[in-house]
Amino acid sequence: MPSSTPSASGQNSAESRSSQGILVAETVIKIEAGDFELQFKTDESGRLLILSCGAWNSASGPDGWAYPPSGDGWVFEPALSVVHHDGNRSTDLRVEAIEKEGHLTTIHLFDPLYAFFVKLKFQAFPAYGVIEAWTEIQHQEPGEITLEAYASSSLDLGEGSFHLTQFCGDWADEAHVVEEPINRGIKIIDSKLGVRAHQFTAPWILVSNGPAQEESGEVLAGSLWWSGSFKFSVEKLPMNSVRLIAGINPFGSAINLPAGEIFATPKMTWAWSATGTGDLTRNLHRYVRNEVLREGNTERAILLNNWEATYFDFDEAKVISLFDGAKALGMELFLLDDGWFANKHPRSGDHQGLGDWEPNTEKLPNGIGILADVAQKKGLRFGLWFEPEMVNPKSALFEEHPDWVIKQPGRELELQRNQLTLDLSNPDVREFAFKVLDSALKETPGISYIKWDCNRYLTQPGSTYLSKKNQTHLQVDYVHGLYEVMERVKAAHPNVEIMMCSGGGGRVDYAALSFAHEVWPSDMTDPSRRIFIQWGFSYFMPAIATAAHVTKMGERPIKFAFDVAMSGRLGMDVDAEKLTLEEHAFAKKAIQNYKQIREIIQMGDLYRLESPYTGPRASLQLTLNNRSVVFAYATDGAPSQNLSLRALDPEASYQVREINRLDEDRDLGFISGKELLTSGLPIDALGTFGSQVFEVLPY
Ligand code: GLA
Repeated sequence: MPSSTPSASGQNSAESRSSQGILVAETVIKIEAGDFELQFKTDESGRLLILSCGAWNSASGPDGWAYPPSGDGWVFEPALSVVHHDGNRSTDLRVEAIEKEGHLTTIHLFDPLYAFFVKLKFQAFPAYGVIEAWTEIQHQEPGEITLEAYASSSLDLGEGSFHLTQFCGDWADEAHVVEEPINRGIKIIDSKLGVRAHQFTAPWILVSNGPAQEESGEVLAGSLWWSGSFKFSVEKLPMNSVRLIAGINPFGSAINLPAGEIFATPKMTWAWSATGTGDLTRNLHRYVRNEVLREGNTERAILLNNWEATYFDFDEAKVISLFDGAKALGMELFLLDDGWFANKHPRSGDHQGLGDWEPNTEKLPNGIGILADVAQKKGLRFGLWFEPEMVNPKSALFEEHPDWVIKQPGRELELQRNQLTLDLSNPDVREFAFKVLDSALKETPGISYIKWDCNRYLTQPGSTYLSKKNQTHLQVDYVHGLYEVMERVKAAHPNVEIMMCSGGGGRVDYAALSFAHEVWPSDMTDPSRRIFIQWGFSYFMPAIATAAHVTKMGERPIKFAFDVAMSGRLGMDVDAEKLTLEEHAFAKKAIQNYKQIREIIQMGDLYRLESPYTGPRASLQLTLNNRSVVFAYATDGAPSQNLSLRALDPEASYQVREINRLDEDRDLGFISGKELLTSGLPIDALGTFGSQVFEVLPY
């Protein structure tokens, strides 16, 4: 039954097979990634069991099936559920072979009753303690099969006092860090939104032994590379072991798979630390900068975005005046946001024009090219906003192609933000979306940055392109279609930077990030709220990928707004002309300071020192090559209290300076590493929305 397959090369076993080709020797398979190791073994019947995850020993016996399929014994949440060509709903997986190529391990499984094959893939990254896990499913049955569940990865953590942390919220309220003990029963963290899928929950989790701690304790992180609906199930089985299953949400998404076609799940990134979330984060940030993000080791420009400065209300002269303001402050890049396009139904608000991507001749009579040229002449790069997946019904595009939208036959169209989603399962629509960007970028080579937005989720998932039988493919095909478009844009315009946005943080997975240079985490830019949002993002996203803009939202003091935004990739959404003289002078100085510390912020290691959740102060340290920047914030009043720093050389002496002050910088003189590590850095009493920033440089 098994087809031709690679030869088995498991560890610690002599090859021993049943007459059906099942590997029946007890073979241990180790996936080693530095301090993180996953261990599996084949049992005497050739089933694959998970033995351990990090320091946690998995359940023994049948509870420890590595990738449990439904219908032949497994009665809990399955990783895989298949309807075979003959209607049989059961699957039994046995090991056929184990392959190792460098840090990639493939475990080949098959069903002895069917020509049905599953490959479990593990790519280890020893430098970061990270393992990427995914699954490929294929068959040669005489007819189509249906995949009703198809997880990327399944782990068993064994018994322990585990806690689960999720990152949930809503528009303008993203990434709340919510932790709870894992009790008996099942907890599902999922999205069914299809598009803008992370509006209510990011596809990231932490599982820790006891409450997650920054400096100690065992903790596992999981992050799914999927911009659509996802599902993490966390189940404490009756025998008390904890099972994690992670992947695309199969809800309404059964996949009909013809013989010979491979269905590959998205990757799940697992990372592990035995020394708390701090080390875990620093490893994940290095991994993201080096293995996920585009140009993750290149410093990012300081950006002026006109969105909160003008919303839809601008014209050519206004935009050019914003350039002058940006330049005078020392900024490097200008991004023209929503509202620059459409003529039949001009984009004067969010109610019309989306989909018609030609410059609006009233606002911009000379087009986009001239803006890019003027920006360039003034020494600024130029960027442009797009939302290529969406359309307003009041647009020439919709009038011409009403069938291109996602909708349910016979139902009244349900709008969100007055718009509909284009059906990216349809190749014509994908071509259109690619051309929107490709044509604009070709026509105006001066555009070196785009903001890729996506402002609604699916409520009526139906496609006029897909067959009746394959309607359930829509959510998965949409995301694959999106990645095809993004891949083409990346290949055709490799030097154009991309900000990934989705009404704020609605698309924050590593797959989306792999096409981009950063994410816009939230439309909430009030710094007192942003502290919390950036704190949540910081577990999975490095500062270089976390766009953080100074705005007028909340009318907070400008120093507080800058101090918060400067711990990420700094930008502003402000009309410089509307700043007071004092604010202007401060903004200019802060931008200059950011240029000095940018490398430390964007490439450094993050130490979360004091959580805003416990208050009254939040503080962060970023460190690169023994140079540090420390941020302290108070959303309420906080008394003066020293702050112990991390990662300094106790033997060295450091020159400490408070920067970003409304008056002159303050020199705190030389302080020994030992003192900064133990008695700490003196922080003033801070009033509501008070903050301080320090530079700590080795002498
Ligand atoms: C979304 C984005 C904003 C802005 C608007 C424009 O809400 O998150 O930053 O670009 O769209 O319509």
